[in-house]
Amino acid sequence: MELNSSSGKDKNALIERLLKELPVFKSLSDNYLSRIAKDFIVFQVKKGETVFYQSDSSTDLYIVLDGAVRASLLNQEGQELVLATFDKGDFFGEMSLLDGKPRSATMIAVEDSALGMLKREKFLTAVKNDPMIAIDLLSAVVQRLRMADGMIESLAFLDVSQRLMKLLLQTAKAEGGKDKSGFFRIKKLTHKELAARTGASREAISKVIKVLAFRDVVREDGDYFLISPDAETGM
Ligand code: CMP
Repeated sequence: MELNSSSGKDKNALIERLLKELPVFKSLSDNYLSRIAKDFIVFQVKKGETVFYQSDSSTDLYIVLDGAVRASLLNQEGQELVLATFDKGDFFGEMSLLDGKPRSATMIAVEDSALGMLKREKFLTAVKNDPMIAIDLLSAVVQRLRMADGMIESLAFLDVSQRLMKLLLQTAKAEGGKDKSGFFRIKKLTHKELAARTGASREAISKVIKVLAFRDVVREDGDYFLISPDAETGM
């Protein structure tokens, strides 16, 4: 991890660089950016560790310095629905930061990660200094609302098989690999993971995968799924 071996100075420089790339902080002067970078508390989380739980009462803002975390809703039985994944340079925790209410989701590290945490008061001071931050934050929140609308639409109007194919094709486009026969090639995800990302039960996913395999839309190949290019037109 880039941060493990770095000094305090390097950490500030990395935070400053990431903050510069964040649309939310784009209007801040370089001077102010380096001041605010020093206010971030940096810490590490191991893969699978929880950063905070839904309903916790903290109000700090976080930025992913390295690795990835995801926002999830968990029910009593431990079933998970993934709302969003945040990678290097993304921020999260803005909802409790803004309204002071409990955390809306549980945040879990998807891989070993380094996070920067900024106290609410420090963020509010930055906003007072430059109100454009608030406008940029609003724009980021609206973008997340649009994504959430997309998820609601999928849950309401698509069945499990269609939601699964949508996820597999999105992943295929992001990963970009194809095999010799033109099938998209993506790293295999567990049925539990697929269930968490499509809002379905693990049992439903297992059934759908069987049907898709029978129709030769999805093949399992060692650590990979192969997805038929025809799946795009079949959606
Ligand atoms: P907060 O409620 O403070 O803590 C949980 C965080 O998860 C939340 O702030 C957002 O940063 C993030 N989050 C919650 N719901 C969504 C969503 N639907 N889309 C993207 N991010 C979300």
